Parts: sequence; structure tokens; C-alpha cells
Amino acid sequence: MGDMKDESSVANAIETINLEMTYRSGRVDVPAVQGLNLTVRQGEFIAIMGPSGCGKSTLLHLLGGLLQPTGGSILIDGIDISKLSDSERTTVRRKKISYVFQRFNLFPTLTARGNIELAKKIHGNGAPNSNGIAPIFEMLGLGGKFNFRPSELSGGEQQRVAIARAVINRPSIILADEPTGSLDSRNSHTVLRMLRDLNEKLGQTIVMITHDSEAASTASRVIEMKDGRILTPTARYSYEPEFERLY
Ligand SMILES: Nc1ncnc2c1ncn2[C@@H]1O[C@H](COP(=O)(O)OP(=O)(O)O)[C@@H](O)[C@H]1O
Ligand SMILES: [Mg+2]
Repeated sequence: MGDMKDESSVANAIETINLEMTYRSGRVDVPAVQGLNLTVRQGEFIAIMGPSGCGKSTLLHLLGGLLQPTGGSILIDGIDISKLSDSERTTVRRKKISYVFQRFNLFPTLTARGNIELAKKIHGNGAPNSNGIAPIFEMLGLGGKFNFRPSELSGGEQQRVAIARAVINRPSIILADEPTGSLDSRNSHTVLRMLRDLNEKLGQTIVMITHDSEAASTASRVIEMKDGRILTPTARYSYEPEFERLY
């Protein structure tokens, strides 16, 4: 009994159970996610890799409540969002989820500071989160550039502002779809360092899609997808000791 209680009290940020997403385009069914089971604990930083078209972005949209799955369940902080109405799902999404995109999607007419403050104003829920702001600004490493507009910042600086904007209201989960996909390697490094700092210092849960194995190595766990499913993490390596014994 005690053991069961301990097990259920382990906090999962995300849990999917037999998750399915089949797009219907005309008369053709496109199965993008097929019977996918994924558990992400609070405070984990996971990277998802896999070939183009294997369903990574679809999975992220499902996790973020932007798409209604055609089968299975998604639990966010224990709430089954697949059973909610559209408006209920939107409420959970606004409160718990933030996105970072490959193209930074900052407001071009606002300064770095303005972009971050706008997010605070729109979605912020006041004082309880305020103490999170100082360390986030510190991690930004923008120097004196808080009053610069996006066009006056490098790609890496813009993406760091976008990440600060995503995290400013302390969402449970940050979903990042190829956040370094538009950056050169130096800027990629600074962006990845910021994500790792948010994860390590503030305990932020992060799910990041990437094509770059170096970027993936920033995460605490790497998951490989193929054909809408997760490959078992040890599959690729588990044969090596056997292989050595054979020869
Ligand atoms: N809105 C959509 N309508 C129909 N098919 C889609 C849609 N979005 C994605 N797909 C299809 O679903 C599959 C997975 O796509 P996606 O999730 O974008 O993969 P990835 O991000 O891994 O490249 C692909 O075959 C893609 O063509
Ligand atoms: Mg994609």
C-alpha cells in the first residue's frame, strides 16, 4: 500500500497512453502518431529526434493541446486534456504550456524587454511567479540590449528573448520545436546553454525536438521517433556487449 502511494506521488509532467493522431486529408488517412506511450517527469529535459515526417511536430502539438488526438490520452500534470472541451483545453494550455519555435516569432515593433513584458501582461498571474523573473533575466545575457528591437539582435539573442518570454510565467512545460534550427553553431550553443540553465537552476520541464545530435546531448534523455512511434531507447546499443562476446 505504502509503495503504491509512493509510486503515484512521483510527479509526471506529461504522460501519454496509446496516443494516436491520424490526419484525414480528403480520402487519405495519414497516421502521424501511432500508439505512442511517453512519460516525462517534472524537471526532466528531453530531446526528441527522428527523420522528417515521423510525427515529431504532431506529437508536440498534441502535448500542447493544440490538436485533439484521434485516440488515446494525454495527461498534463495529471489532467487528462484529451477528455476536455476545446475551451477547457485552452485554459490548461495557457496556464501550463509555453512554446519556442524555430523562427523566433517575436513582435518586431517591441523591444526585447517589451516582448517579455507583453507575455507577462497577457498570461501572467501575478506575484507568486515574480521571483522567477530575476534569474531568467540574468540567464538571458543580453547585456545592455534590453531596449533593442528584434531586428537589432542576432538570431541567437532573439531566440533567447523568445525563451525568456516562454518561461517568464513559469509554465509547467516548455515545448520547443527545433529551437536551434535557424542558428549557426555558436548561437546554438548559447541558446542550448540557456535551456539547460532553466532546466538545472529553475527545474523547468523541457521537451525539445531537434535534428542535431549535439543539441540533443544537452538534454537529460534522448528519445528517438520513427513512423509515429518511439523507438525503445536502448534498442540501438543493447546488442553491443553481445556482439563483443560473439567475436
Ligand atoms: N495538418 C496536416 N494534415 C495532414 N497531414 C499532416 C498534417 N500535418 C502533418 N501531416 C503529416 O503527418 C506526418 C507527420 O508530420 P510531422 O508531425 O510534421 O513530422 P515531423 O515534425 O517529424 O517532420 C507527415 O506525414 C505529414 O505529412
Ligand atoms: Mg516538424
